[in-house]
Amino acid sequence: MSKKLFVETLGCAMNSRDSEHMIAELREKEGYEIIDNFEDADLILINTCSVRERPVHKLFSELGGFQKKKKAGAKIGVCGCTASHLGDEIIKRAPYVNFVLGARNVSKITEVLHKDKAVEIAINYDESEFAFKDFRSSPYKAYINISIGCDKSCTFCIVPQTRGEEISIPEYLIVNEAKKAVSTGAKEIFLLGQNVNNYGRRFSGTQEKINFTELLRRLSQIEGLERIRFTSPHPFHMDDEFIEEFAKNPKICKSMHMPLQSGSTKVLKDMKRGYSKEWFLNRVEKLRSMCPDVTISTDIIVAFPSESAEDFEETLAVMREVKFDQIFSFKYSPRPHTEAESFTNLVDEELGSERLSTLQLLHNELLDEKNATLLGNIYTVYFEDLNRDNFVAGRSDNNIVIKVKGSEELLGEIRDVKITSIGRTILTGEILA
Ligand code: SAH
Ligand code: F3S
Repeated sequence: MSKKLFVETLGCAMNSRDSEHMIAELREKEGYEIIDNFEDADLILINTCSVRERPVHKLFSELGGFQKKKKAGAKIGVCGCTASHLGDEIIKRAPYVNFVLGARNVSKITEVLHKDKAVEIAINYDESEFAFKDFRSSPYKAYINISIGCDKSCTFCIVPQTRGEEISIPEYLIVNEAKKAVSTGAKEIFLLGQNVNNYGRRFSGTQEKINFTELLRRLSQIEGLERIRFTSPHPFHMDDEFIEEFAKNPKICKSMHMPLQSGSTKVLKDMKRGYSKEWFLNRVEKLRSMCPDVTISTDIIVAFPSESAEDFEETLAVMREVKFDQIFSFKYSPRPHTEAESFTNLVDEELGSERLSTLQLLHNELLDEKNATLLGNIYTVYFEDLNRDNFVAGRSDNNIVIKVKGSEELLGEIRDVKITSIGRTILTGEILA
């Protein structure tokens, strides 16, 4: 009988891919199969995120829950960014945890499994050329890492400390992974990195140095591959060449994530983001002028230290001007050992929460106005989810979630759909013959 594995994944797309990598290694090398309930598992992994403060005691209370109800003899491993950040403190506080595996050490999963109380969290560990075994959670699309770590030093961000310096994965490994995905049924690939359009900055080997735009060109030549998505690009690295390739390459999906963080150039400077409000708006304009159908999503942090009422107003003004299609908005959360942790002039908690809800309300208003204009539009949709109520859902090329009446025959199909009704986060349509 095979051994059973339960994985809980928190946080970003990179963490999801790290979980897929660990599952692949454990399946192929250790004979594990994945299950949905931890009570029956022989191995429980929690892949953690530390980008915002999730009270540490919440992790420990969750671990306590696993420990109480797990099968006798089952192992527990804590992985990901909080593992990198807390290290052996985790085992000190929860001695029943069997191992701690950092976000930069995923390839060592089958090693730590057999060493009781192993703590592998070195952030200078280079796994950019490690050939992971294959596993993906969706048959229709494949997540592919193109770099590890991050070389920026945004003052609010803990990621460079948990994932280490940026190293690009060699092009041949990425292309091979994409080809393999296509040959096993995926029509879409999703390229992942903390800073994808900085690709090529540093390789560990001596392979040819190419940049992100060139990588996109080469991947788009793969026969049978229909769609390429990626996250996250950095506004600072959105040069004209990149935007032009994005606009004219039919395989690149027309949705761009542009993490603004703040609409005030002063706050952007305090955050060390490397661009001004004017540069950001100029890039949006260039993108929209070359690619009118593009949808734009963003990340915004409110209540960064010293953010004044005027700074916040500037963020709202950028939102009114750009009319983002999707926002991920957060209240600033001080993170240990980041530069901003020592900033004084903190914004009052309550005021921060108020700003967050003002921003979210504005976004919803803008989105409703925008969505109302989509009725009757036709989109090309790649279907990937079967809903309970006889609907099948997928995404348009520009990343709008659309559902139609239908059954599993539609899964994995790409069809033209006309929009017949509008919701805030999902549109309904009918397939055109
Ligand atoms: N490399 C990614 C960022 C990863 S973190 C990028 O540039 O898009 C994802 C998002 O979490 C960030 O864009 C930011 O909006 C938010 N975030 C990061 N640190 C934060 C903090 N200390 N407090 C609040 N939000 C934060
Ligand atoms: Fe964090 Fe900035 Fe890198 S947000 S992940 S340090 S680009």
